[in-house]
Amino acid sequence: MIKQPMIKIISTGKYIPPHIVTNQDLEKLVDTSDDWITTRTGIKRRRKAINELTSDMAYYAAIDAIEKANYDQTKIDLIIMATITGDQFTPSTANFIQAKLGLEHQVMSFDINAACTGFVYALEIASSMLQTGRFRSALIIGGEKLSKVIDYTDRNTCVLFGDGAGAMIIEPSQKEQDRAYFYNAAYPDKNNTLTVIDKIFMDGKKVYQFAVDIMEKSIHKILDVANLTMDDIHMIIPHQANERIIQSVSKSSGIPMNKFMLNISEYGNTSAASIPITIAEYLEKHNITNQKILLVGFGGGFTWGSAILQF
Ligand code: UT7
Repeated sequence: MIKQPMIKIISTGKYIPPHIVTNQDLEKLVDTSDDWITTRTGIKRRRKAINELTSDMAYYAAIDAIEKANYDQTKIDLIIMATITGDQFTPSTANFIQAKLGLEHQVMSFDINAACTGFVYALEIASSMLQTGRFRSALIIGGEKLSKVIDYTDRNTCVLFGDGAGAMIIEPSQKEQDRAYFYNAAYPDKNNTLTVIDKIFMDGKKVYQFAVDIMEKSIHKILDVANLTMDDIHMIIPHQANERIIQSVSKSSGIPMNKFMLNISEYGNTSAASIPITIAEYLEKHNITNQKILLVGFGGGFTWGSAILQF
């Protein structure tokens, strides 16, 4: 029997860069239209980091989480950053975040890359590490500056992506009700369906088909793992890639659309940042206690993952 970790969610935070890129702005760059983008994806605008590095956005998201909980940041001894657009190859972006937070005690900090599923992967890694008893507080961040890898001449991709960061602070728990459940997985995409070598390349239709299939399976899988049903779930926070993907999952699974939190119209697809930004935004709008939230993501790799967390 797999032992799932028990974690206490202390706080969440987000940072959205102020510069807005509208669909109308993109009409000036490529042969596209507000109508096409809106009806095919649900996206109206996205943000672009002009003056911020990935580590800056991640740091601001971390500070938002720290300030919301009035948290003693010197307790943090584990930082995991999920990103595909780190500042540079090394040091890791997590190292830069640690430096910006001024944490000079024994902190383990590193980046992971699981594309758009990165935050759910990082959360499982951090939760498992906390379970060992070796760490007392983990800061997990998903942050992306996708604008630096977007090809602004490719209408197939440039309309989809945006920049931002989301953060979560967790501590180990001894309470059974705080048990978290994870189901993360991957299999090799032999056809290079979604890659970033210099710029983003994507066969959107193939990713779409994969996403619709795997999201529904992931939701059912994590409910099985946790021995729960959708009646036990307060809200699903899905990776924000395309509103039509969520509508299709809703239709085939019978889970109503109002169980899925959506903000893609405002931020587009922010890859590893999308789930933590959406969690933070949801919690800013809704004061919830004793509720379970289901996370579900997918991305390049192919990777996918789901989790059920107690808030
Ligand atoms: O985070 C995970 C990664 N990403 C995803 O999850 C994305 C998954 N895929 C999708 O969301 C959708 O496949 C897209 C939004 C990328 C594309 O939507 P679609 O309905 O699958 O369109 P399509 O690729 O079949 O293209 C239909 C038409 C094509 O024209 P023709 O060949 O029919 O003449 C495209 O060239 O739409 C054209 N097109 C556009 N037209 C206007 C593609 N992009 C654009 C655009 N503006 N931006």
